Amino acid sequence: MRRVSYGASKLSLLALGAAFLSACGPPPPPSKPLSELTPQEHAGRAVFIADCARCHHANDQKAYRGPGLQALYKEKYLPSGAPANDDRVSYVIIHGRNMMPAFGDTMDSQQLADLLAYLRTL
Ligand code: HEC
Repeated sequence: MRRVSYGASKLSLLALGAAFLSACGPPPPPSKPLSELTPQEHAGRAVFIADCARCHHANDQKAYRGPGLQALYKEKYLPSGAPANDDRVSYVIIHGRNMMPAFGDTMDSQQLADLLAYLRTL
């Protein structure tokens, strides 16, 4: 009796572990260290801190108010399923998306270019 229940609980632990691994996948590649950012990437980080950090983690893929943005450009697709490229990311920043506000009226093209440069380092 004891051996059977032990076996069953061991099996369910294994199943749990497999489910956990497949849900999380391998960890994303690391971001570029802050000490190696170019002046433009630093300027973009300042924009991120001012406009984006209240809703997005830069160093984590875990959701905050919006999805975590670590490895944004290293993944093939954005959280919405759209391709991860400058056109799409710019569009979301300029026009907003669902609960995300639009920044088209408050951000100039230099700030947007700097921000995209920073997002590519994540
Ligand atoms: C008020 C909170 C909020 C702020 C501020 C905000 N976002 Fe978002 N963001 C969201 C939410 C919520 C989503 C998910 C939208 C959806 O797909 O429904 C999102 C989605 C995104 C996405 C994924 C789009 C996709 O197609 O999957 C990107 C990239 C993004 N935000 C970047 C930014 C950047 C860069 C900034 C700063 C300029 C910013 N966000 C500011 C809340 C915010």
